[in-house]
Amino acid sequence: MIFLCALEELTNYYSKGFSFDEESIFVVRQNDKVYAYRNSCPHLGIQLEWQADRFLDLEGELIQCSTHGALFTIQEGFCVSGPCSGQSLEALKVDIRDGQVWVDV
Ligand code: FES
Repeated sequence: MIFLCALEELTNYYSKGFSFDEESIFVVRQNDKVYAYRNSCPHLGIQLEWQADRFLDLEGELIQCSTHGALFTIQEGFCVSGPCSGQSLEALKVDIRDGQVWVDV
């Protein structure tokens, strides 16, 4: 697992992207829970965001791919609408210890 950031650095009900050597991931915080996914849309395998750190729809209720508008649940990464309906984002295991967020990339 790698250290990502302090929990307090993540805005509640908002998303944030992170890049490592060859990996791009994003997280969404909901209170004391953090959901992490590989930043790759199951439709074409490209990154989802339309601007830095903007992975959610306008209501902030679903993850949205900016290219063709696929929508995914925040909690499971399951695609509920769009060209990859029924497929899922690749979820990453998250641990929160002492206010620090760790992710298994
Ligand atoms: S690339 Fe994401 S919906 Fe088409």
